[in-house]
This record gives sequence, C-alpha cells and structure tokens, in this order.
Amino acid sequence: MTAHAVEIADLRFSYPDGTEVLRGITLAVPAGSRLALVGANGSGKTTLLMHLAGLLDGPGRIALFGVERTRASAPELRRRIGYLFSSVAYQFIMPTVLDDIILSDPRPELPYDERRERAFAWLRRFRLEAYAGRYPLDCSTGEMKRAALAGVLAREPDCLLLDEPLASLDRPSGDELLRLLAEVPTTMIVATHQRAIVERLGANVALLDSGVVAGTFTARQALRTRAVTNLLW
Ligand SMILES: Nc1ncnc2c1ncn2[C@@H]1O[C@H](COP(=O)(O)OP(=O)(O)OP(=O)(O)O)[C@@H](O)[C@H]1O
Ligand SMILES: [Mg+2]
Repeated sequence: MTAHAVEIADLRFSYPDGTEVLRGITLAVPAGSRLALVGANGSGKTTLLMHLAGLLDGPGRIALFGVERTRASAPELRRRIGYLFSSVAYQFIMPTVLDDIILSDPRPELPYDERRERAFAWLRRFRLEAYAGRYPLDCSTGEMKRAALAGVLAREPDCLLLDEPLASLDRPSGDELLRLLAEVPTTMIVATHQRAIVERLGANVALLDSGVVAGTFTARQALRTRAVTNLLW
C-alpha cells in the first residue's frame, strides 16, 4: 500500500488545437493531506484536475490510492473521486436539491426512505433543509455551491477535487464553506487563487508555471514565498 492518495509522473497534455498545457507534471499527494494548486490564469490547474477526475487522458503516469490509471481501472478510480466544478451549475442532474443528493448516495441498494434520510442529514449539515425541494439552478451562487459540495461529499469520495470553491462567494459564504471544508478529513486538491484556502485549510501548495510544478511548499513556506503570494488574493 502506498501512503499517497495521488501520484503523478511526467504528465503531459496538449489541447487538440495545439495549446500545450501540461509539460511534464510530477507530484505526489499524501493520503489525508490538502494541496492547493496555485498558478496564473491559464497555467493548467483545471486541466490537471480534469486528468485526476478521469475526464482527460494525457500521456504520463497517474496512480490513485496505489492503483495505476489504465483503461481498465479508470471507471473504478473515477468513482472514488469527488469533483466540484468551478461552475457548479453544470453538476446538477436532478430537478431538486434533495433528489440530486439522493442520486449521489453510493448505496443505491438501500431503501428509498433511508437514502432520503441520509440525504437530509447532508442538507442539515450544510444548512440547506429549506432548499430541499428547490430546482438547483434557482439557488443563489453560494447556496448552489453548498448544495453541490453536499452532493459531492454524499458520494463519500476518497479524494476531493475542488476547482476554485470560493470563487464568486461573498465573505460570510466563503467563510462558511471554508469551515465546512476544514471539517472534511478526505484528501483534497484545490485549484485556487485565494490565500484563505492555504491559511485556513493549512494546505500545502504546488506552484504551476509553464506546464510544470515549479515548487512545492508547506502552507507556512508558501505564505512566505513571493512567487506564491503574488498569485493569491
Ligand atoms: N478546450 C480547450 N481547447 C483549447 N485550449 C484550452 C481548452 N481548455 C483550456 N485551454 C487552454 O489551456 C490552458 C490552461 O487552461 P486551464 O483552464 O487548465 O487553466 P487554469 O490554470 O485552470 O486557469 P484559471 O486560473 O483561469 O482557471 C489555457 O491557456 C486555456 O486557454
Ligand atoms: Mg481553472
């Protein structure tokens, strides 16, 4: 067994139009740790997360939880990953917030009433009971983020990928989301431009530059490193 939730070696990727984004990414994320991906706009953070989520497939090595990504293992690995998109509106499938969380339950064999109760427990934890019957896209951005995160966590993933989770949230909503995330013990990789993610989650930092990992830092080191802090709000 490896102690790494994620191992990436020499991962490369160019978009079909020739845009070369990942030029040999090498990175290891210990199980249970939190990593912030920091890099300028267009540096490849989302592209890298999409590789970990199994949505893109550039050459190079990716192992999750000690299992090498292959064509055969990819579906199983995808199930163990929870991905919060930067535009969360894309992740709702069902017509209500409650149904969407019920759909996320990894134990579809349970009786409906039990799954409904499990989903309500997530809604209570995220202060979303009042929105149970709401069409997800009729929620405000902050409510939608909480609902999407509840849905992602309800899948009980072994690794969480969060793409700019605080973007477009006001300060109180951002603080609340950070409080919720701080309680989550799951391995977490967060693409971010926000200092609070590093500070409040105590996240290690991988600095992406020119398609490679230009440096890795503990939270403390990162907050004292100009190349990192220059990129953070
Ligand atoms: N579908 C696509 N086709 C061509 N180029 C793309 C595509 N998607 C992204 N890119 C390009 O790939 C590069 C990396 O994009 P990516 O979205 O991974 O960056 P990012 O680090 O997440 O940026 P941001 O901080 O703005 O979210 C950018 O130059 C972007 O324009
Ligand atoms: Mg991005």
